[in-house]
Amino acid sequence: MNKLSRLSLFALIAAGSLLLSLQAHTEEQVATLRKGTELNKENPKPAPLQNPSNKDIKRARSYPMQPPTIPHKTDNYQTNLNANKCLSCHSRSRVEESQAPMISVTHFMNRDGNFLADVSPRRYFCKQCHVTQVERKALVKNDFKDVNEMLKKDRKAH
Ligand code: HEC
Ligand code: HEC
Repeated sequence: MNKLSRLSLFALIAAGSLLLSLQAHTEEQVATLRKGTELNKENPKPAPLQNPSNKDIKRARSYPMQPPTIPHKTDNYQTNLNANKCLSCHSRSRVEESQAPMISVTHFMNRDGNFLADVSPRRYFCKQCHVTQVERKALVKNDFKDVNEMLKKDRKAH
């Protein structure tokens, strides 16, 4: 290999790895609603707060293990070391009084699959999994198909 082609090979590799690292950088920015703000930074212009739906009507789940979405407002429902407002209605001992649906058995299971007497610490922060909804047009296109729809199509094909 002469000196010139060795040099151009080196330039090619350098350009290639630069491209790869640029790609990795853009791939890290997955949070579309944050408009590219890095995860460890605060967005200087956050989107305005929305008014969550408060109709108290259960929504269908898209798949059996989906955490149901919250059909009521959760403003000022605090969760901290001393109190969990959600559990003041949804815990086993409070549902008779509140008429809220009880947290299901999975919320009592620890990571080894054993059932605890009270809610498992890994299910303490409800909003990690359960979210309120706003009535808006979807922000991103979604072509999710329910399994029933797929089964129907499959049956038709045979
Ligand atoms: C004042 C009582 C109360 C509090 C506090 C409360 N909820 Fe509820 N929740 C209800 C009731 C009642 C329902 C049944 C539907 C309705 O009336 O809104 C419900 C429904 C739900 C559902 C839907 C269940 C399903 O099967 O579709 C979820 C999820 C939920 N709540 C999560 C939460 C979370 C998370 C919090 C805390 C941020 C919370 N709730 C705080 C009373 C409460
Ligand atoms: C790690 C995720 C996660 C956390 C945290 C979590 N949940 Fe759930 N929740 C789920 C999933 C998944 C389901 C649906 C499957 C099931 O019923 O176990 C569910 C179901 C529910 C239901 C419906 C139960 C039923 O029988 O229909 C209620 C109500 C609920 N959760 C309330 C809560 C409350 C209140 C908290 C906080 C104390 C909480 N969840 C924390 C994942 C979570």
